[in-house]
Amino acid sequence: MKAALEQIRQTVAAELNAAHDLKALDALRVKFLGKKGELTAILKQMGKLSAEERPVIGQLANEVRADIEKRMENRAAALKEELLNLRLAAEKIDVTMPGTKSPIGKQHPLSMVLEEIKEIFLGMGFDVASGPEVELDYYNFEALNLPKDHPARDTQDTFYITENILLRTQTSPVQIRVMENQKPPVRIIAPGRVYRSDALDATHSPLFHQIEGLVVDKNVTMADLKGTLTMFARRLYGEDAQIRFRPHHFPFTEPSAEVDFMCFACGGKGCRLCKGEGWIEILGAGMVHPKVLSNCGIDPEEYSGFAFGMGLERIVMRRFGIDDIRMFYENDQRFLNQF
Ligand code: DAH
Repeated sequence: MKAALEQIRQTVAAELNAAHDLKALDALRVKFLGKKGELTAILKQMGKLSAEERPVIGQLANEVRADIEKRMENRAAALKEELLNLRLAAEKIDVTMPGTKSPIGKQHPLSMVLEEIKEIFLGMGFDVASGPEVELDYYNFEALNLPKDHPARDTQDTFYITENILLRTQTSPVQIRVMENQKPPVRIIAPGRVYRSDALDATHSPLFHQIEGLVVDKNVTMADLKGTLTMFARRLYGEDAQIRFRPHHFPFTEPSAEVDFMCFACGGKGCRLCKGEGWIEILGAGMVHPKVLSNCGIDPEEYSGFAFGMGLERIVMRRFGIDDIRMFYENDQRFLNQF
C-alpha cells in the first residue's frame, strides 16, 4: 500500500505537468481525489490493515493527499497566470505607436486667392452677389449695351445654347440682375465662372473665373473708383502697391479704362514676371454707362456708378509664378499639394 501511495504521488506529479488548462486539471482532481478516485480507492482498503500499520499508512495517505492538493493548487495558479499573460499579450495596445493619418484635402489655389479678394471687398462694405452661368443673351449682352449687331460681341467667343441662351462670357450680367432687384445704394462683387470658346493652351481656357464689382449711388465718381481700386491693390499686394489707368473702351462703361497694378515682384523696374513692363494688367473698369442704368430702371440723372471686372486665374498665376493655366483644372496632386 505504501508503494501504491508513492506510485500515485509520482503519477500525479507527471500528469500535472501535462495538464495545460484548468479543465484538464479538474479532470485530474476527479481522477485521483474524487469519490471514485485512485487515492480514495486505496484509503477504502485501510480497514484491511493491521492496527499497527493503520496509523502509519494513514499518516502517509494524508501526507500524499496534502501533497497532491498542494501540487494541484500550484499548478492551477501557474496555469491561471499563464492564461492571463497570454491574454495581456494579445490585448496589448501600444499607445506610443503613431496614429494612422487620413489624408485631408487642401484649398485650391484659385479658392485661396478668391477668399482673400472677397475678404478685402467685404471689409470695404461690399456684398457678394451671384448669377446663373447659363444666361440669357439679354443679360450677357443686350442690357450691357451690346445689341445684336454690336461688333464687340465678336471678341467674346460665345458658346450659344439657343439663339437667346448662352454660357455667360463675363460676370457683368450679374450687374444687371442685381440692379433689377435692388435700388441704390448698390455695392457688390460677383465672382464666378465664365465661358469662351477658346482653344485650351497655356494662357487660354474655355472656362475661367472673373470677379465683377459694381457700386451705384448718388454722386459716385471716377475718384471713388480709383480710391476703391487703390485700396484693393494695397490690401492684395501691400502698402506700396500702385495702380495706373489706361484709356480703353467697354460698351457698358463710359469712360472706360484698363487698370494695371505695379508689378509686386520688381516694384515697377521690370522683371520676368511682368515681362519687363513693370506693370501688370489686372482689371477692366469704368463708370457705368447711363444706358445700362436706365435698362435697369435706375435714373442716370439721379444716380451714377462704377464697375470693374478682373480675371482670377491671371492674378493667381502671377501670385504663385504659375505659367500654365491648365494646371488649375487638371487636379494633379503634385501641383495642388504645393499650396
Ligand atoms: N466684362 C469685361 C470682360 O470680360 C470686364 C469688365 C470691364 C468688367 C469693364 C467691368 C468693366 O465691369 O467695367 O472683358
